[in-house]
Amino acid sequence: MFNSSRPSRRYDGQVAVVTGASSGIGCALALTLADRGASVVGLARRQDLLDQLSAELTRRSPGSATEVCDVGEADAYQAALGRIEEDRGRIDILINNAGIDLMLRASDGALSTVRRVLDINFMGTVAGTLAVLPGMIERRSGIVVNVSSDSARAPEPRQGAYAASKAAVTAFTDSVAHEVASQGVHVHLLYPGWVPTAMGLSGDEDGGSLPPKMVRRTADGVATLVADRMGGPRIDINAAHLPLLAPFVRTLAPGMYQKAMRRLGTTG
Ligand SMILES: NC(=O)c1ccc[n+]([C@@H]2O[C@H](COP(=O)([O-])OP(=O)(O)OC[C@H]3O[C@@H](n4cnc5c(N)ncnc54)[C@H](OP(=O)(O)O)[C@@H]3O)[C@@H](O)[C@H]2O)c1
Repeated sequence: MFNSSRPSRRYDGQVAVVTGASSGIGCALALTLADRGASVVGLARRQDLLDQLSAELTRRSPGSATEVCDVGEADAYQAALGRIEEDRGRIDILINNAGIDLMLRASDGALSTVRRVLDINFMGTVAGTLAVLPGMIERRSGIVVNVSSDSARAPEPRQGAYAASKAAVTAFTDSVAHEVASQGVHVHLLYPGWVPTAMGLSGDEDGGSLPPKMVRRTADGVATLVADRMGGPRIDINAAHLPLLAPFVRTLAPGMYQKAMRRLGTTG
C-alpha cells in the first residue's frame, strides 16, 4: 500500500523538527525527510542514540542536527523550538512523535505516572504545536504532524493513561487543523498501525501474540507514507485501515466488542 509510481515528494531546503528521533518511527521519519532534502533537527533524551543519528542525518542532508530535549518539560521544549526557529529562520515541518506507553492497572492508582504519560504524549504535543503555529501562520505555510494511536479509538485494558493521552492528541489536533486550514498550515494526525519498535514490542515480553498482519507496519513504511501524504488535504494519515472499524463494531455489536476487549484484560 505504500508503493507509489509517483516520484517521492521532496522537501529541499525545508527545516523539519522530529521529536522522538532517537529510535523507532521518529528515527525513520528523520532519516526519510533528510533523504528528501530537508534539514532535519532530531530531538529526544538519549544523547548516545542522537549522536549516532546525527552522523547519519548530516551524511544524508548537511545542515541537519540533533539536540537533547525532554518534550515532557513543556517550557524547555518550547524554548528549544524557539532557538531552532531563531537559528534557522523558520520551522517548516514539526513532527510531534515522541511518546511513551505504560501498561498501568487502574487499581495501582499511580496518579503521578498517569500525569507523566499525559505530560509527554499530550502536553508535549500541545506545547510543540502552539510554539510553531504563529511562525507558520505568518508565513502562510507549514506542516505539523501529531502522532496519535488506534488506542484512542479503542482503548484496551491497562492502557487508560496512554489511550487517554492519544485521544486528547486526536481531539486537540483535529480542532487546530480546522482552525488553521485556511491560513496555509496543514495539521495532521498520524495513526501508525502497529509497528515493531521498542514501544510496539513492549507488550510482547511474555511472548504474547502479535497484532493481526493487517495492522502490522514497518517504521520505514510509516515514514514513507507520512512524507508522501503530509501537506495534503486529508487531516488523518492512517497507516492501517482495519482499526477504523472499531467504533462501528462498538456501536453495532457492543456485546462482541466488550467481550473482545475484556479478553485482552485477562490475557497479556
Ligand atoms: N509502535 C507502535 O506500534 C505505535 C502505534 C501507535 C502509535 N505509536 C506512537 O508512535 C510514536 C513513536 O513510537 P515508537 O513506536 O517509535 O516507539 P519508540 O521506539 O519507543 O520511540 C519513542 C521515541 O520517543 C522518545 N521519547 C520518549 N519520551 C520522550 C521525552 N520525554 N522527550 C523526548 N523524547 C521522548 C524516545 O526517545 P528517548 O527515550 O531518547 O527520549 C524515542 O525516540 C509514539 O508517539 C507512539 O505512541 C506507536
